Amino acid sequence: MRKIIIDCDPGIDDALALMLALSSPELDVLGITTVSGNVPAQMGADNALKVLRHMNRLDVPVYCGAEVPLKRDYVDAKDTHGEDGLGETNYPKVDGVSWSNGAVDFIIETLQKETGVSIIAIGPMTNIALALQKCPEAFQRLEEFVSMGGNFKSYGNCSPVAEYNYWCDPDAANYVYQNLGTMIHMVGLDVTRKIVFTPTIADFCQRIHPSNGTFAKQITHFYNEFHWKYERIIGCVINDPLAIAYFMDRELCSGIYAYTMVVTDGVCIGQTVVDSMNFWKKEKNSYVLTKVNQIDFMKLFLKRVFQAKESDLDIIFNAG
Ligand code: RIB
Ligand code: CA
Repeated sequence: MRKIIIDCDPGIDDALALMLALSSPELDVLGITTVSGNVPAQMGADNALKVLRHMNRLDVPVYCGAEVPLKRDYVDAKDTHGEDGLGETNYPKVDGVSWSNGAVDFIIETLQKETGVSIIAIGPMTNIALALQKCPEAFQRLEEFVSMGGNFKSYGNCSPVAEYNYWCDPDAANYVYQNLGTMIHMVGLDVTRKIVFTPTIADFCQRIHPSNGTFAKQITHFYNEFHWKYERIIGCVINDPLAIAYFMDRELCSGIYAYTMVVTDGVCIGQTVVDSMNFWKKEKNSYVLTKVNQIDFMKLFLKRVFQAKESDLDIIFNAG
């Protein structure tokens, strides 16, 4: 099993990513840390507990982290994820189990006491940057780092040129890219835009796994409305689960090694600048994903979270 910390801002697609991680026997989720992004960190922590309750995994600890970005004013994404961050499903709060504060210290202490820990960051990188600033030596023990965020040749999703996680806290994102010291696997919009959870797939999931399928349908309904209204997409782009799937199966995606930085001010704030032609002759700090096998991703997602059988998958992927 590979030990991971998931840093997230649940968030609808974060919730689906947590479901995938918790359904994958090769992953040992040591803890979930939340950061202000789609919703404030505390609401994110409440939502992480709701997902853990649904998955019957309240044994996984949740730590609440940074409430505001390093420098910028905080801008949430409730317009996309709903006032409650889970598509306005308004599931009841989890009682009997609560989250703790101290996400940054949890990240540092876990890296210090465990070996082989990887971090999968699927929200703004404020917690990661604060932990790296506070204890850089702990990150020398980091196994791997996967970040859902950024965009190379794809247009932005919260400005013409910026992707939300890096736009929400560009100072944190750039600090991590410049100081982490471990290759950053950037799972950006170039690949995640190809991952669309369509109503047909959602219906299929509900039929083959009524519990997880109904949960996924309920939390994505609001997201579907947003995607139709603003991107004329039927269904919704589920960015975060691809970061989890890619961590488990590198064959799903391919990309380029390059030096990457994140713009921290001006009209292009949050833009990911990928020096693919090596103009600046700087050390390559990132592996930027450019291609994805979206069918293979969806098959993995459906098998793991909804226990789809191969015969079931033929219904969806080999239909006439
Ligand atoms: O831009 C998409 C990313 O921003 C996803 O992680 C989504 O959950 C939001 O955090
Ligand atoms: Ca997220």
